[in-house]
Formats: sequence, structure tokens, C-alpha cells
Amino acid sequence: MPETALSSATPDAAASAVLEVRDLSAAYGGPDVLSAVTLGVRTGETVAVLGANTAGKTTLLRAISGLIPKARGHIAFEGLALLGRPAHTIPGLGIGHVPEGRHVFPRMTTLDNLMMGAFFHRGAKDIAERLERVFTLFPRLQERQAQLAGSMSGGEQQMVSIGRALMGKPKLLLLDEPSHGLAPIVVDELHGAIGAINRQGVSVLLVEQNAMLALSVAHRGYVLEAGHVVLSGSSQSLSADPGVRRAYLGV
Ligand SMILES: Nc1ncnc2c1ncn2[C@@H]1O[C@H](COP(=O)(O)OP(=O)(O)O)[C@@H](O)[C@H]1O
Ligand SMILES: [Mg+2]
Repeated sequence: MPETALSSATPDAAASAVLEVRDLSAAYGGPDVLSAVTLGVRTGETVAVLGANTAGKTTLLRAISGLIPKARGHIAFEGLALLGRPAHTIPGLGIGHVPEGRHVFPRMTTLDNLMMGAFFHRGAKDIAERLERVFTLFPRLQERQAQLAGSMSGGEQQMVSIGRALMGKPKLLLLDEPSHGLAPIVVDELHGAIGAINRQGVSVLLVEQNAMLALSVAHRGYVLEAGHVVLSGSSQSLSADPGVRRAYLGV
């Protein structure tokens, strides 16, 4: 039986799709780096996309955010077709993107970085509430709110980047390798925060090379190899899969 975007492990057929990616292909002028990728995120889920370096993970997230002009296929957010929409309109729909490499504004303070994420929400009360939530999630950012973001540690900059995305009130958060290059204790803290964000009702698409970490926080996942989805399933079944264990878990 052919797999649909949302078939798999969590037999929660009643849950609606927040994100549906169908037959997505993408290129940068040369050969396709994504080939007919089909996957989905249900409302309230955290879904991991695992894959080695150059598998196409970043390209997938960038295509969802409207940043890959040559993307072909179908992407829907809450039933709304995304391909062809200008990238600057995507955050306002309710999609927050935490890019690979964090990309904080280094010469701006933590607070100003966070406020950049509130661009689409002008109500002062709303913004104050969002900020309060971000500070509850990452108390360190409240302590360091006046510090220039460029002078913060890698982990703190990742918190700024996630906090900035949360200021846009996303329903879906796209996270591109948030643990990359960070010390294990910081990674634990971040993954705890991702769990908390998800429990607050935000659906999450988490891209990671670190499969162990991703599967510890996600409900289910997909494995991307050279632009193709080669495997999908619950986090439990993927963690137990011999191929995944060999390729991604180092066991
Ligand atoms: N801006 C770009 N221009 C040309 N090729 C790119 C660009 N970005 C990525 N690629 C290529 O696309 C493929 C997938 O890259 P990427 O999506 O960054 O993978 P991942 O995030 O899984 O490491 C790689 O072969 C990479 O070299
Ligand atoms: Mg990448």
C-alpha cells in the first residue's frame, strides 16, 4: 500500500495536518537535491527529519519558508498552498523558522533580536505576553536581555534564535539543527525547551543530524537520504531500526 504523507505510526487519524509536503522536488540550478519528498506534521506533533550532511534537510525547511525558488510539488500549511508565496509572507501565516547557524543579529541586544520576531504582531499587550513566555522558557535571555547577541555563547544564541521565532506566534516551528556544535548539557536544555514549546501547542518540524537527540524529543520521524525519504515511522520504531542505528546512532 503506498504511504501517504501522514500514514504511519501514530494512528491518530482524527488529528488534522498542520503541514503537508507532497512530491516536493528542489534544485539550485543543477540536479535535484530533493526528489519527490512526501511528509507531514499533524497538529500538535513534533516530527523529526534525520539525515546526514547534504541529505537536503536545510533545503526542505527553506522550501517550506518560500526560500527555494525552484521548488516544485505541493506544500500546504493548514490546507493553504505555500509554493509560490513570497518568503516574507510566510512568518505571518504562522510558520516560525529557526535557521541553521542561528543567524542572530550580532550587534543588536538580545531584547532587540527578540522584538524583530514580533514584526507581524503590533499589539503591545500581545508582544509583552509573548516576551514573558520566551523569558519563562529561557530565563537566561531575561538576564541577558541588554547584552549584544553576538557576544553570547552558542547555546544562548540558539535560545535567542528560537525565542525570536516564538515572538512571531508560530503554530508550526521549523528547527534546523538546533543542537549543532553545542555542548551536551546545553543540548539537553534546548531539547527540554523544544518539548515545552510543543506541549504549549506549537507543532514542530525538527531537522537534525543527531538522530538520538531528535528521536528523544519527536513523536515520529522521517529519514532523508540524498534528497529522498527512505524511511519513516514512530521515534520508537526508528530508534530500533538496524539501518538507522548503524547509520545515525553509531551503534
Ligand atoms: N545555495 C546552494 N547552492 C547550490 N547548492 C546548494 C546550496 N545549498 C545547498 N546545496 C546543495 O544541496 C544539497 C543539500 O544541501 P542541504 O539542504 O544544505 O543539506 P543538509 O541540510 O541535509 O546538510 C547539497 O548537495 C548541497 O551541496
Ligand atoms: Mg543543513
